[in-house]
Amino acid sequence: MSFPFQISSREQYERDYQASIENPEKFWGEVASHFLWRKPWDKVLDWNFKEPRVEWFKGAKLNITENVIDRHLETRGEQPAIIWEPNNPDERTRVVTYNRLHKRVCQVAQMLTNLGVKKGDRVCIYMGMVPELAYAVLGCARIGAIHSVIFGGFSAQSIADRLEDTNSAYIITCDGGYRGSKDIPLKAVIDDALVGNKVVKKVIVYTRTRTPVSMIKGRDVWWEDEMEYAETQVEKDGIVSFPAVEMDAEDPLFILYTSGSTGKPKGVVHTIGGYMVWTAYTFVNVFQYREGDVYFCTADIGWITGHSYIVYGPLAVGAQSLMFEGIPTWPDAGRFWDIVDKYKVNIIYTAPTAIRSLMGFGSSPLAEKDLSSLRVLGSVGEPINEEAWHWYDENIGKSRCPIVDTWWQTETAGIMISTLAGITPSKPSWATLPLPGVEPVLVDEEGKVVTTPNEDGYFKGNLCIKTPWPGILRTTYGDHERCRTNYFATYPNLYFSGDGALKDKEGNYRITGRVDDVLNVSGHRIGTAEVENALNMHAGVIESAVVGYPHEVKGQGIYAYVIFEGKMANADLIRQDILQTVSRIIGPIAKPDKIQFVQGLPKTRSGKIMRRILRKIAEGETENLGDITTLLDPGVVEVIKNGKV
Ligand code: WT7
Repeated sequence: MSFPFQISSREQYERDYQASIENPEKFWGEVASHFLWRKPWDKVLDWNFKEPRVEWFKGAKLNITENVIDRHLETRGEQPAIIWEPNNPDERTRVVTYNRLHKRVCQVAQMLTNLGVKKGDRVCIYMGMVPELAYAVLGCARIGAIHSVIFGGFSAQSIADRLEDTNSAYIITCDGGYRGSKDIPLKAVIDDALVGNKVVKKVIVYTRTRTPVSMIKGRDVWWEDEMEYAETQVEKDGIVSFPAVEMDAEDPLFILYTSGSTGKPKGVVHTIGGYMVWTAYTFVNVFQYREGDVYFCTADIGWITGHSYIVYGPLAVGAQSLMFEGIPTWPDAGRFWDIVDKYKVNIIYTAPTAIRSLMGFGSSPLAEKDLSSLRVLGSVGEPINEEAWHWYDENIGKSRCPIVDTWWQTETAGIMISTLAGITPSKPSWATLPLPGVEPVLVDEEGKVVTTPNEDGYFKGNLCIKTPWPGILRTTYGDHERCRTNYFATYPNLYFSGDGALKDKEGNYRITGRVDDVLNVSGHRIGTAEVENALNMHAGVIESAVVGYPHEVKGQGIYAYVIFEGKMANADLIRQDILQTVSRIIGPIAKPDKIQFVQGLPKTRSGKIMRRILRKIAEGETENLGDITTLLDPGVVEVIKNGKV
């Protein structure tokens, strides 16, 4: 069976694309009619990029959990919704059917209500990759609370910042989490984040690792106890129910923080109706999901990929979504392929960084793994280099599975530019064609649309989108002006992605990477300014400048130039202190790969750091550093070059 809005041929793609651009309201109104609304919309789309204001399915009422859970119960109640593979392959796996998911989500909704959570309240979630994380997210959605999931790799300080920004009174966490051979003490990190916090009223703790945790009377409660009590309330005579709260299509569904070119991460806000339609539509069409497929997305729910393509998109169409707690290389580098073999996975969606790290282990981890169930391979998070693309194609797909290289962002909620598996052609390291509803334009620095190809025959420019798609971000939490200046002001009347791209004559897009001061490290976005702020907090650091450099596995590595004051008796120890500081302020993911101590930084007369030069040096370039005559002190360049680490 295919889904009502499933594109099934190249011709249909062309037709639907045209229709979506010519009359978006008609097109998306039709797609949206295949969802469950309590009240239909008054208007499909109302927008103005100047403010910016975007409203999809205006006036409509719904609850997203009735779409991702309740409406499947009659037809597929006993079918798996979430298949959970634990970190340790010796531990028992868990299969959560739609019926079971319904019950658990009703319990969470009841538990949250019992603890005082109301519609519109923000709930921060800091958990490992356990099914309870999905229950927590959906439980919030059921009562109209706004979830803000924080990736388990962020530090106490980062959590504290996000708690403050969202003014959250509720947290859901775990005692600890497993990641490969490591135990992560999640609750202890929350405790650190809460020192001095006067706003948080309740911390719900799910037991995963049975690590000892501090439990504060009146504030900290056990998930298991609360859920058990909630069960007695939601289940009567074998019938489970917790009425879903009626929400407006444009009410916020969640906040997810992401890095930008300025110091503090911003809370991207997505709203219910458009997000639901966009994630479900893109999921079905890009991966060409078929009834009964097992779909495995290797991301963490702490990132947008997990929100959209582990939880909401797949469940909205009644798919079987495989959720993995562990990492690709533990207990060995065959872990993903064991999972594919064990569950007969049909579709796998992973990141170039994972592919590159597994490539390094050669083909022995693949020996005797049956990968014949695979039909579609997906990639996301960063440009996929040709070498990784071909390795993925040949070794995993056995040259018979289409690769979908999916370009999108936290802000876009779902896939924007991608091959549709088996429908439109793949092209190594090209994301290829826009999805219906997506109107990309490439502009030059002045904002003029690029109309002349370069010497290679490609149009090259900054990637913008002309009109709203249902999943576009609506605001940045608590600071709408920041949303406007970040995305809608660089080029008037366009959404600016921050990425550069090429376009060929057939209309295929190749994303070349960020054109702003944002790094992409192992598919994670990190702002250089954010890392610099953290570096500068170290007692001995006077000033710092951070740039990216090509890294074999991570895509980009973090290179920090640091001016250090005082004694440098042991440079290595100081380096480690600095790394600790960054780890404390942001999290281990932001730790520089290289730190070079310098006496001065190349600056213009007006005091601006010339990052272009620093980037070139970090990349190993020594000759063509460009014009350095405008520098205040061109001499520093030579010194920095000679001191490269
Ligand atoms: C940035 C968004 C999309 C979910 C995961 C990351 C880069 C993402 C691709 C791709 C080239 C890509 C872009 C983008 N990016 N996918 N297929 N090809 N670059 O979400 O953290 O919001 O990061 O990731 O630079 O702007 P995110």
